[in-house]
Amino acid sequence: MSDKKILVSGVKPTGRPHIGNYFGAMKQFVDLQDSYESRIFVANLHALTSIQNASELKEMSQGVVEDYLGIGLDPSKTTLYLQSDVPHVAELAWIFNCLVTMPTLMRAHAFKDAEAKNKEINVGIFDYPILMAADILVHDADVVPVGKDQEQHIEMAREIARKFNGTYGETFKEPKALIIDSVATVPGTDGQKMSKSYNNTIPLFASDEEIEKAIMGIVTDSGQDIPKNVYEIHKLIRSEDDLQKLYRDKKGQYKELKGILIEDLKNFIQPMVKRREEKSGEAQSVITEGGKKMREVVHNKMKEVREKVGLIHHE
Ligand code: ADP
Ligand code: TRP
Repeated sequence: MSDKKILVSGVKPTGRPHIGNYFGAMKQFVDLQDSYESRIFVANLHALTSIQNASELKEMSQGVVEDYLGIGLDPSKTTLYLQSDVPHVAELAWIFNCLVTMPTLMRAHAFKDAEAKNKEINVGIFDYPILMAADILVHDADVVPVGKDQEQHIEMAREIARKFNGTYGETFKEPKALIIDSVATVPGTDGQKMSKSYNNTIPLFASDEEIEKAIMGIVTDSGQDIPKNVYEIHKLIRSEDDLQKLYRDKKGQYKELKGILIEDLKNFIQPMVKRREEKSGEAQSVITEGGKKMREVVHNKMKEVREKVGLIHHE
């Protein structure tokens, strides 16, 4: 392979990606694909914690590959693959399970939130950070571009690498989270964090009608000169200098400002929708190739790990 640093990240196929996913993480995958050796996957094993319907999971997973192609990931630069096509990560997660303590996992925000909401928590949800650590560490990744909500998970991956190295000798690299401050937590149409579970998203591959509906639904407080929730979304796609002038000129004219945001978003989203349509036919062969390549790449690392922990390895 190349002497470039290694970048790894993934997105769960649990719903249509939104512009929060894009600006918080996926855009960085594209921006950095020339400077890193990039490996981007569909986190379908993680999705099993919440999707227990085979055809739905398959369809969503295929959809994320198409999304990756749509945003401009180029398979000749970035390896795209399905997490389940590299089963080594599940084995590595088990090895980590036997090192990490329950109290460590009990500190995870996702687990604490689920517990606070009295949700039924499957062991997969509890163990989620361990599988994520395996996804990253098996590659000896240098950087992991993600949104702020994943910061704790990357910190845990670093801790797990240290613990493994301390127990079995130097084996794993400690990865760094790559989080961009200005888009670390993109707000949704209600001003809270944009999230698939809050019904406040603008889908990344939205139709014109969906864009109109989402933007007209942005919550605004009457009495503000600048509708904050509109402005915060607008600044993702237009320079602040531009916007400050625009929002000053149109002070208090919420409807008109929303109209301009709608047009800007359409211009931003339409080319991606078009590229997604054009490239979708390639998705299947791209992930077949990507999975094959990644299995070969991680094979030697797993051989080393098995050796270190005392699992006898047979080719
Ligand atoms: P969601 O949180 O909507 O369920 P995912 O868990 O699939 O989405 O997240 C995929 C990537 O997008 C992760 O790196 C996550 O940190 C990032 N992300 C999700 N929501 C936001 C947001 N509102 N702002 C910035 N990044 C986000
Ligand atoms: N947990 C991430 C999310 O919810 C998805 C994910 C799984 C991931 N494994 C990863 C992200 C490894 C980065 C690196 O969005």
